[in-house]
Amino acid sequence: MSRVYNFAAGPAVLPLEVLQEAQKELVDYKGAGMSVMEMSHRGKDYDAIHQEAIATFKELCGLNDDWAVCFIQGGASLQFAMIPMNFLGAGQTADYANQGTWSNKALKQAQMIGQVNVVANCQKDIPTRMPAADEFKWTPGAVYSHVCTNETISGAELKEIPDSGSPLIGDMSSDILSCERDYSKFTMFYAGAQKNLGPSGMAVVAIRKEFAAKGAQNIPTMLQYRTFVDENSLYNTPPTWGIYIFGETMKWVKRMGKENLFKLNAEKARKIYDVIDASGFYRGTAVKEYRSNMNVTWRLPTEELEAQFVKEAAAAGLKSLKGHRSVGGIRASIYNAFPMAGVDALVEFMKEFEKKNG
Ligand SMILES: Cc1ncc(COP(=O)(O)O)c(C=O)c1O
Repeated sequence: MSRVYNFAAGPAVLPLEVLQEAQKELVDYKGAGMSVMEMSHRGKDYDAIHQEAIATFKELCGLNDDWAVCFIQGGASLQFAMIPMNFLGAGQTADYANQGTWSNKALKQAQMIGQVNVVANCQKDIPTRMPAADEFKWTPGAVYSHVCTNETISGAELKEIPDSGSPLIGDMSSDILSCERDYSKFTMFYAGAQKNLGPSGMAVVAIRKEFAAKGAQNIPTMLQYRTFVDENSLYNTPPTWGIYIFGETMKWVKRMGKENLFKLNAEKARKIYDVIDASGFYRGTAVKEYRSNMNVTWRLPTEELEAQFVKEAAAAGLKSLKGHRSVGGIRASIYNAFPMAGVDALVEFMKEFEKKNG
């Protein structure tokens, strides 16, 4: 077996144990005589997978019975549209922080539906960053407020969850379950699954049932949160394979131990930032206090050197280090499942590359 170190931002590396377990169960799931992909979503084998996946996730996030967890196809991008369609009515205002590419995309969708107040704007700031707590100008009486906790492209992470004064919604696509966080501060949070949760193909959406019940009723059934809450994401055929791998990934997080995993994540990021900070050659892209522990971004002195860095790293088994096509530079995405050994290999490679080219 030869696995590379995969620094891709998403779809991204999954825990090897989970892949191997899925491989073992692929053809015959626990004696069912068929794979999870082939079984009815109304049968008892699948039902157990579905329920356990939700229960494990709720336990990991500390969510009580006020919360529902939904599996919704269309990725995090459909959430950008569903949120205002459900909750932003005529004559109402929703607050959006514009912190980077993803939160900007979210607010653009909301602007198509209704009135948006941009409460802070650092989308284009270089070095990249998040708004400081006193920068947010929240609207009294807003129907909800929206933040992105980790901007995957800029490599900036919101370290403190703000008190917005209205129901807070978080796009946590790239840092969900990666660090200690009080999820109860939110009314809703969601993540495209393909980074810390499982394969691509759905968003995992946690929402307070009471809030979901307030959503618009004059939009198509499949766009209403209440459909997913009331029918436990089984109104139509859900992405069963993705939910199965999500459930296995959540069990893996539980086995690793959250505290242990969060500590490892911080340590992995610190090792790369230490090399950047000790060097006059590499230049971190994000303001230090907002540096992401999931997506580490940096530049080299020239674009030619960046291209050479990415090419030589790939040849050494360090794959997908190229920054997002919209910004360039280098990005190492080191989600929960990314192994420490891969970070150590990258750090060694960075030091060698600097020696040769610095
Ligand atoms: C923070 C964030 N939000 C939203 C998205 C969009 O996710 P999707 O591709 O699942 O629509 C991404 C994708 O990388 C992301 O990083």
